[in-house]
Amino acid sequence: MDLKWGSDAARKFITNVGLITSDGPGGPNIMACEWTHHVSYEPPLIAICIGSGSATAANIRKTKEFGVSLCAAGQNVLSSVAGGYSGSEHDKIGALKEIGFKFHKARKIKAPMVSGAAMNAECRLAREMEIGDHLMLVGEALFVSAGDEEPIAYHNGMYWKMSENISKPSDAERKKIKETVEKYRKT
Ligand SMILES: Cc1cc2nc3c(=O)[nH]c(=O)nc-3n(C[C@H](O)[C@H](O)[C@H](O)COP(=O)(O)O)c2cc1C
Repeated sequence: MDLKWGSDAARKFITNVGLITSDGPGGPNIMACEWTHHVSYEPPLIAICIGSGSATAANIRKTKEFGVSLCAAGQNVLSSVAGGYSGSEHDKIGALKEIGFKFHKARKIKAPMVSGAAMNAECRLAREMEIGDHLMLVGEALFVSAGDEEPIAYHNGMYWKMSENISKPSDAERKKIKETVEKYRKT
C-alpha cells in the first residue's frame, strides 16, 4: 500500500478545495489546491503545497504574495478548470470569466480574488519549504473575508457538499464516556 496520487489510501483523505490566485511574470492565474490548510491563528497563517514547476509557483516566488479562496458549492467547475490547465498555456481567469465566474480586485495584493467563494484570504509569503515532491508556501493573511457560502470538500477524486453532520452522543452516553476517560487519568 502506498500513498501515490490516485492510490486507494490517498483517496481516503478529505481535503479543502483551495483556489490559489497569483499575478506575476505569467500574468494573473488561478490553480486548484486541495493541500490548503489553516496552520496558525496568531499570526494567521495558511499553508499551500504546490508543484514547484507550476505557473502559480513561478508567480508567487517572484511577487511573494497570493490569494487563497475556499471553493463554494456551485464553483466546482471553476476548480476543475483551475486544476485542469496550466497558466503557462492558458489564461484560465479569462476563460473562467467567459464561462460566467466572477473575480474582484484584492485590497492588499495584486492577484484577483474569487467572488462568491466561501472564504477569501489575501496572503503575503512568509515561508517557503521544499517538502518531498511539493513546495510548501506559508502565507500570512493580510485581509480575510467570509460570506454565507458553505465550502465544499474534495474526497475520492470528487467534490462533496457537507450537508449532513454527525449527531453527538446523548447526555447519558457522554457522561459514561467521561467517567471512563477519568478512570484512565494519569497522575
Ligand atoms: C481538485 C483539485 C485539487 C488539486 N490540488 C492540488 C494541490 O493540492 N497541489 C498541487 O500542486 N496541485 C493540485 N492540483 C493540480 C493543479 O491545480 C494543476 O497542476 C494546475 O494545472 C496548476 O496550475 P498552474 O500551472 O497554472 O499553476 C489540483 C487539481 C484539482 C482539480
